[in-house]
Amino acid sequence: MFERDGYRVACPEEIETPALLVFEACLAHNIKTVIDLAGGPANLMAHVKTHKSTEVLRRQMAAGISRFKTATLTETEMVAAAEGPQALLAYPLVSRVKIDRFISLQKKYPRTRFQLITAHAENAAVLSAAAEKNGVRLEVMVDLDVGQHRTGIGLEDAGALYQYIAALPGLVPAGIHAYDGHLSDPDPAIREADALACLEQVQTLARQMEARGLLVPFKVMGGSFTFPTYARAEGVLASPGTWVYWDQNNLTRLPEMPFRPAALVLAQVIDVMPERGQVTLDLGSKAISADMGRILGAPRARLLLQNEEHAVIATEGHDLKLGDHVLAVPGHVCTTVFRYPGSWFIDASGNVAGWNEHAARDRGPLPD
Ligand SMILES: Cc1ncc(COP(=O)(O)O)c(C=O)c1O
Repeated sequence: MFERDGYRVACPEEIETPALLVFEACLAHNIKTVIDLAGGPANLMAHVKTHKSTEVLRRQMAAGISRFKTATLTETEMVAAAEGPQALLAYPLVSRVKIDRFISLQKKYPRTRFQLITAHAENAAVLSAAAEKNGVRLEVMVDLDVGQHRTGIGLEDAGALYQYIAALPGLVPAGIHAYDGHLSDPDPAIREADALACLEQVQTLARQMEARGLLVPFKVMGGSFTFPTYARAEGVLASPGTWVYWDQNNLTRLPEMPFRPAALVLAQVIDVMPERGQVTLDLGSKAISADMGRILGAPRARLLLQNEEHAVIATEGHDLKLGDHVLAVPGHVCTTVFRYPGSWFIDASGNVAGWNEHAARDRGPLPD
């Protein structure tokens, strides 16, 4: 039995390293925790970009979460293929080929309510023409830029865009989407005040539209840093994603949040240089996010060099021998998961409980 900080792997020697392991008890804890912090599953639109997995999606749905956010067409297809009731593709679709694929998914999976975003009248007109041509109605949210300045339209112009969408044939205005990735103050009280200011922008736009007789069916906001504020606001859905697996960056930046790292990389010592006080692990940049993260049980260990398949570590006195296993909490779990076609579920006894395919890891269509 290999055990570090409460994470148990019964037979690590039977797993080819590097491998991504998903600890089922931590995953279940995180699902329960996000629902508790949100005040119920109905206040969430969970982002699937972190896990990209049908099985994890099913566990979220079994816990009552029914709305999902996606960043790619393949993630959207994964939600629909699993009969997720609602899928918002919160990523601009500005090419014909992608718009056509979105429409064909909407036609193929009638059980799912599909939605997308836009921030430009020009794009809305293209979506409208495509909807008309294909005989469908597209539900479109206005992507409101609340300060991150990555995508979206500012509050001063957003109302005109919303009205324009409402007037276009084939389009249905579905509400407001606002992502606040710029809010990362370590002080939870300051972060909450910042989030409330973003919320006020969304509510202002919603009030303006409702005053003009337009419906604002959904308001979708935020990520793991701010979701408790939004989830508890009246009529707002919060859209965090990283909470599902958590990671070292979030442990460091959000110490008050009670999530547990659930997806860890199992690696091995593949070379030792005791005279230099260093070992080499199979934890290269193709195995884990470039910042590597933290090795459990070796808090002083320092990354000296990371190549594609190698990580050279200063052991700083930790006893690591050739062939030893290590478990690493990724710095950024989202950019670790997609490096693997799947991960191993590990049960509470440390046994492998099944293969967790990362079905939406790639960008092409899912196999039938
Ligand atoms: C548009 C959008 N919504 C939601 C999220 C989820 O945020 P987090 O990763 O902090 O949970 C992200 C993260 O990148 C995002 O880009």
